[in-house]
Amino acid sequence: MSTPVQTLLDLSGKTALVTGGSRGLGLQIAEALGEAGAKILLTSRKAADLEEAAADLQAKGIDTRWVAADASEATHVDKVVAEALQRLGHIDILVNNAGATWGAPAEDHPIEAWDKVMNLNIRSVFLMSQAVGRASMIPRRAGRIINVASIAGLSGSSRMQYIAYGTSKGAVVNFTRTLAGEWGRHGITVNALAPGFFPSKMTAGTLKTIGAQKLGAMSPLGRIGDDDDLKGAALLFASAAGKHITGQILAVDGGVSAVHGE
Ligand SMILES: NC(=O)c1ccc[n+]([C@@H]2O[C@H](COP(=O)([O-])OP(=O)(O)OC[C@H]3O[C@@H](n4cnc5c(N)ncnc54)[C@H](OP(=O)(O)O)[C@@H]3O)[C@@H](O)[C@H]2O)c1
Repeated sequence: MSTPVQTLLDLSGKTALVTGGSRGLGLQIAEALGEAGAKILLTSRKAADLEEAAADLQAKGIDTRWVAADASEATHVDKVVAEALQRLGHIDILVNNAGATWGAPAEDHPIEAWDKVMNLNIRSVFLMSQAVGRASMIPRRAGRIINVASIAGLSGSSRMQYIAYGTSKGAVVNFTRTLAGEWGRHGITVNALAPGFFPSKMTAGTLKTIGAQKLGAMSPLGRIGDDDDLKGAALLFASAAGKHITGQILAVDGGVSAVHGE
């Protein structure tokens, strides 16, 4: 017997922990999951930004809480997961979205910046997934992990200079496949979104220098991402509509990776 698609996409009664949820892509994904009915716990470092983001979502009728923490610190990760379990009861959906970048030619890239990017973009994704898996998803034999990679993790680039970032996102891509292979037996799906260019605090400098029109012109669809473009893909991975999908990387990039490979 089949299930109506509205039911498959409904997240009523589900809970979601979203890292880097105070703004940008994380907030867009949190909004999508919340609009589909999930209770949301946002986490990032700055309390004031989290408070504002949570108020925005609450004004839209979404049950939202927040906890301030640095995702690249192992002790903070444990704190976030403990708080999430206390406030949400369990975690159905984990969105590993917090990330940072650093622009420098590879020959001059500072080691401190390499460590900062790798610690947040991949080490924290491992720590958070492990903690949430152990505490909630494996015991409950259910869970959805959505990692936010990037098209920078699908190929190299002759235009951009971000060796640590590209390396970290490539690692997120194969972390996703590897964990999907291991945790399928626990009823957990692990997938990744690979966004192309979206306006956010992270990309504000590039957007200002190059301009939305030029950046958009690099994609077959002739545009950059907007405030809605990740919502459908995130909901697919988070909901019963995606229950047979695991270990997949979905580029949401206007077709950039299909034609240029970057
Ligand atoms: N925008 C794009 O075009 C694009 C394209 C591909 C992939 N992505 C990926 O999408 C994700 C979100 O990027 P964005 O563009 O939305 O960037 P953003 O606007 O800079 O948002 C980053 C989020 O991560 C949080 N964060 C940063 N460092 C953190 C840390 N150490 N611990 C916990 N939270 C931390 C930030 O809050 P605090 O600073 O308060 O901690 C913020 O909530 C990243 O993984 C990025 O690589 C973005």
